[in-house]
Amino acid sequence: MARKIAILGGTGPEGSGLANRLARAGEHIVIGSREAPRAQEAARRLCAHIGGAAKIEGADNATAAAQCDIAVLTLPFSGQAALLKQLKGVWKPGTIVIDTTVPLAATVGGSPTRMIGVWQGSAAEAAAELLPAGVSIAAAFHNLSAELLTGDAPIDCDVLVCSDDEKAKQVATELAAKIPGVRALNGGKLENARIVESITALLIGLNIRYKVHSAGVRFTGLPAK
Ligand SMILES: NC(=O)c1ccc[n+]([C@@H]2O[C@H](COP(=O)([O-])OP(=O)(O)OC[C@H]3O[C@@H](n4cnc5c(N)ncnc54)[C@H](OP(=O)(O)O)[C@@H]3O)[C@@H](O)[C@H]2O)c1
Repeated sequence: MARKIAILGGTGPEGSGLANRLARAGEHIVIGSREAPRAQEAARRLCAHIGGAAKIEGADNATAAAQCDIAVLTLPFSGQAALLKQLKGVWKPGTIVIDTTVPLAATVGGSPTRMIGVWQGSAAEAAAELLPAGVSIAAAFHNLSAELLTGDAPIDCDVLVCSDDEKAKQVATELAAKIPGVRALNGGKLENARIVESITALLIGLNIRYKVHSAGVRFTGLPAK
């Protein structure tokens, strides 16, 4: 059976954007939401937007998580711990979780250009503590703007993938490379997610100062692919 990718919190701009790109690449997507009808509506909208044979369904977050092989977390940091506690007994063994969460101060009413301090070091490391044994995690996609993920134009951005698990790193790398224009880079251990997450706060500031929605990152001196 073809693998399923759940995008939890996928009704928002980042999750819907990733669903759009991964469905266009032929992946079977299940959008997750706190409310199943909201996820189903988002799935319908995306299918209509993409057309053709796009495989996108909608479900509540727990139903989406229970049936997936890969889960992408695309919800605000303020909701991450509660959701992962709810899902602790739900995951299939071997599930790979890909965390996109940026712990912006905006998530607790502060500035979108500042980070909040996370005891574990990063949102991804905080998430890792809340996953059961047998479920692995990679951090990726933090520096990809939701606006650029809409549509199908190539995206001029590197995606840094951080993980302590080789399989999770490989899967996240392969998914990132399916987005036209994107180069996936080995970002090292999961602890490096704290650096990658904070780059997003800088990118948001650049977007504001330059009045764009498209700031991204490219690293030089590395192989093209
Ligand atoms: N936007 C970007 O350009 C961008 C870029 C890189 C990374 N990110 C990261 O990606 C994540 C999602 O970004 P976004 O802009 O799409 O966020 P968002 O619109 O604020 O939230 C995404 C979805 O999360 C769900 N949600 C909201 N609060 C929640 C809570 N307390 N508990 C559980 N679910 C909750 C909502 O879905 P339901 O109401 O349907 O449950 C919402 O539609 C964030 O962590 C962000 O830092 C965003």
